[in-house]
Amino acid sequence: MDTRVDEIAERIYRLSTFLPGVGPNGLTFNQFLVDAEEPLLFHCGQRALYPAVSRAAARIMDLRRLRWVAFSHIEADECGALGEWLAVAPQATASHGAIGCAIWLNDQASRPSRALADGEVVDLGGRRVRRLDTPHVPHCWDAGLLYEEATATLFTSDLFTHAGDPPALSRGDIVGPAISAENQFGFTAVTPAAGATIRRLAALQPRTLAVMHGSSFSGDAATVLDSLADFYDDRLRKDLTARA
Ligand SMILES: [Fe+2]
Ligand SMILES: [Fe+2]
Repeated sequence: MDTRVDEIAERIYRLSTFLPGVGPNGLTFNQFLVDAEEPLLFHCGQRALYPAVSRAAARIMDLRRLRWVAFSHIEADECGALGEWLAVAPQATASHGAIGCAIWLNDQASRPSRALADGEVVDLGGRRVRRLDTPHVPHCWDAGLLYEEATATLFTSDLFTHAGDPPALSRGDIVGPAISAENQFGFTAVTPAAGATIRRLAALQPRTLAVMHGSSFSGDAATVLDSLADFYDDRLRKDLTARA
């Protein structure tokens, strides 16, 4: 198993492992490393991926420098190797939103974790990440995303999931492939709040979307986010009409 490293924005690295057996076309599992005075890892990856992902991360920095490990929601691909990362990085603090800490992280982390409030900014020294609560978007009630202000990078977690092993960074269409994956897997909790939650992310006007499964995106990310919000609003309307 091999994990590839690509710099998708200045000093923001995508650690990508392609698993060909997931779904009909395979799926990439991407963690992101933000290099700063206090480096941050967004998502741990599954425990089985830890040897490959940590080897890749070690090509970028001494893992003992890691100061933060952050999450969007609780699932194995986001959180599985939490224990392994905390063991290799003794100065790292695990952090999540208030709900995620209460229902999971405070119990599972081997040392005190840090709950971030909605909108709270963590100064990493050279990079600043803001926590954005996005309950049930893409799924799970603890869901939230991170936005890095200096590079205008939004870490979208499972939003924009698309299959296969596409390039690390795309300037092309990622909405079409994301809609195909959504229609195939149905992974998003399409509630009445979903569209509005995604439009709030668009209002940040990100320049880069760091996508957990598939290509990251560089370009007019606000338009791309608005398109995805339109799709979910439309999906909800159709579902409700069909059930009326
Ligand atoms: Fe997920
Ligand atoms: Fe995921």
